Amino acid sequence: MRVAVVGGGASGAAIARAVEERGGEVRMLSRRTGFDVLRDDARAALAGMDAVVEATGLFTTSARRATRFFTGSTRAVGGAARTSGARHVLLSIVGCALPEVQGYGYFAGKAAQERAARATGAELAIVRSTQWFEFARQNLDRMRFGPVALVPGMRIQPVSLDAVAEVVADAALGARQGPVVEVAGPEVTTLWEMTRVLGRPGAMPVPLPIPGRLGRAFGGGALLPGPGAEIIGPRFAEVPL
Ligand SMILES: NC(=O)c1ccc[n+]([C@@H]2O[C@H](COP(=O)([O-])OP(=O)(O)OC[C@H]3O[C@@H](n4cnc5c(N)ncnc54)[C@H](OP(=O)(O)O)[C@@H]3O)[C@@H](O)[C@H]2O)c1
Repeated sequence: MRVAVVGGGASGAAIARAVEERGGEVRMLSRRTGFDVLRDDARAALAGMDAVVEATGLFTTSARRATRFFTGSTRAVGGAARTSGARHVLLSIVGCALPEVQGYGYFAGKAAQERAARATGAELAIVRSTQWFEFARQNLDRMRFGPVALVPGMRIQPVSLDAVAEVVADAALGARQGPVVEVAGPEVTTLWEMTRVLGRPGAMPVPLPIPGRLGRAFGGGALLPGPGAEIIGPRFAEVPL
C-alpha cells in the first residue's frame, strides 16, 4: 500500500518508519520535498496513494492564523483524498475541540481542522493523541524569549510518539477502523515536571500560569484522555530523550 505523509515535523520519521515496518511504501510531502500544501496541487501530489496521513503544523497562538493554516491544509489534503478515493488520516489532539480550551488559538485551529476534515467527504480517521514526550522540548523552542522559555501550566498524560505512529500507520493501512481513535500514555504529569528533567534545555524554563477559564481547563485536566482512550507505550521516565 502507498501512503503519503504530508508534513510531519517531529512525527514524520516515526510515522514513515511504522508504515514501512508494516510493508507500506511512503511518500513524504512537505515544503522540504518541494510540496506546499497551501499552494501546490494536492491532487497531483497524492495521485496513486491509497492513504494520506496529514501531519502538517504551524505553531501560532493566533486563532485566525491557526484556523487559516489548518483548514487550508485539510481542505487540500481531504479534497484530494476524496477525489482519488484515498483514506485520510488526520493527526489531532485529545481535548482540542472542547469549548473550554477554544481560547487557545492553536486549539481553535485544530478544532476547525477536524470540522473541515469531516466536511470533505473523504474516508476519514482522526487519530487524537495527547502531547508527545517530545512536546516538552518543542514547547521550550516555541516559547523561547531570549534567555528564558515559558512553560504553560498544563496537566497532561503524555505519550510516546513511536507508539502513536504505530496507531497512525495501522489507521492508514486500514488495519484499524473507526472515525476517531484517541490515544494517551500511561501516566498523568505536568508539562513543568516533564520540562524540569530535560537535559540541556537551551533556555531557562519559567512557569507560565494561564489565567481565567483556559488556565482552569489546562490545570484541571481538560487535556487528559476520556475513558474511551487507548493507553499505549512506555512511561516518560522510561524513554531517553
Ligand atoms: N506535538 C505534539 O505533542 C502533538 C500531539 C498531538 C497531535 N499533534 C499534531 O500533529 C501534527 C504534526 O505535528 P509535528 O509536531 O510533527 O509537526 P510540526 O513540528 O508542527 O511541523 C509540521 C510540519 O508541517 C510541515 N509544513 C508546514 N507548513 C507546510 C506547508 N505549507 N506545506 C507543507 N508542509 C508544511 C513542515 O515541514 P516543511 O517545513 O518541510 O514544510 C513541518 O515539518 C500537528 O498538526 C500537531 O497539532 C502534535
